[in-house]
Amino acid sequence: QIPVRIGLLGCGNVGAELLKLLTRDSELIHSQTGERFVVTAVAVRDLNRPRPDYVDRELLTDRPEDVVASSDVDIVVEVMGGISPTRELIEKALLSGKTVVTANKALLAVVGAELTQIANSVGRDIFFEAAVAGGIPLIRSLRVSLAGERVRRIAGIVNGTTNFILSAMSDSDLSYEDALALAMEAGYAEADPSADVEGDDARAKAAILATVAFGRLVRFEDVYREGITKITSMDIDFAKRHGFEIKLLAICEVLDQPGDSSQKIAVRVHPSLVPKDHPLALVRDSFNAVFVTGEAVGELMFYGRGAGGLPTASAVLGDVIDAAHNLRYGVTERQLDREPAHLVSIHEME
Ligand code: NDP
Ligand code: HSE
Repeated sequence: QIPVRIGLLGCGNVGAELLKLLTRDSELIHSQTGERFVVTAVAVRDLNRPRPDYVDRELLTDRPEDVVASSDVDIVVEVMGGISPTRELIEKALLSGKTVVTANKALLAVVGAELTQIANSVGRDIFFEAAVAGGIPLIRSLRVSLAGERVRRIAGIVNGTTNFILSAMSDSDLSYEDALALAMEAGYAEADPSADVEGDDARAKAAILATVAFGRLVRFEDVYREGITKITSMDIDFAKRHGFEIKLLAICEVLDQPGDSSQKIAVRVHPSLVPKDHPLALVRDSFNAVFVTGEAVGELMFYGRGAGGLPTASAVLGDVIDAAHNLRYGVTERQLDREPAHLVSIHEME
């Protein structure tokens, strides 16, 4: 079988772990899926930076624009992050007939609709399982398993860095600054960690979740957000004394009654007091946990590692395998153009 060719944009926390999985587990992947992969190029910013042994330095380039245009690439995997030049690179990749796999929630929450339109217009896929909740298969569950479900509510912890910080402050009396430094060292935080602590990372994920689950377009700017930068050790102690944990929650809700077609939606991210015996209060470290409530299915809980190179690479690998399958059989995922949502602001809800 002819191997599917991957062009990788980014070889940091996630990209390097993906290369490890593709190298170490190639026989397992073949026996479980029938697919074989070969990485033909790896774009990085700094060619001289030390890399793990399993990164073939011959493949490195600091010209990502060559990778997306290359005729030796079938699937472009974007794990470099940021909005520019990433947006332009993904557009070029799609327009030159490549399938795209991305973990970039910041980009998708802003221009996901435009990228989906381009993908649809050229009959290609854009996969993004790793963009929300790291290794937890949440996007595919919503997109595929729950495709016919009337989802009413999604609520949970979708940022590993802030959960790591809040847990460490609550359990180990670690300072906010020390906990953030540990989260950065572990590869959980964004390149600019203010996206995590100010709530913008969770905001982007909430926009993506609401769009996928409710079938209406919700963008980054539609989501109310408040981060954790104002939470002090005193707040955490106070909450604990009264039987609560403080957690940064993302909440996406349909506000109208079943049968009402206006589909009013509210999406918000903010620190919340969670009763200490609620499952969300027990989520520690960089783990994420998300409750999904649907009219027919009832309540579901998704739990797992929401950040970190290896769990995220696992989600990317799943997408890469699906992408290869679709290319081989000439099919694409359902990727609908979505009408803008009728959003209700947090102030209107009060
Ligand atoms: P890193 O910062 O660790 O890695 C980024 C990689 O992209 C590096 O290899 C860097 O090169 C390369 N890069 C950045 N800019 C450019 C550019 N302009 N041209 C060429 N190469 C470039 O990021 P992560 O691996 O942590 O994250 C990658 C993406 O995955 C982000 O979108 C992030 O939001 C998302 N994500 C991350 C998770 C995590 O837990 N880390 C979880 C879920 C999603 P160099 O190595 O030379 O610096
Ligand atoms: N910085 C993100 C987090 C990475 O901490 O959740 C996973 O998306």
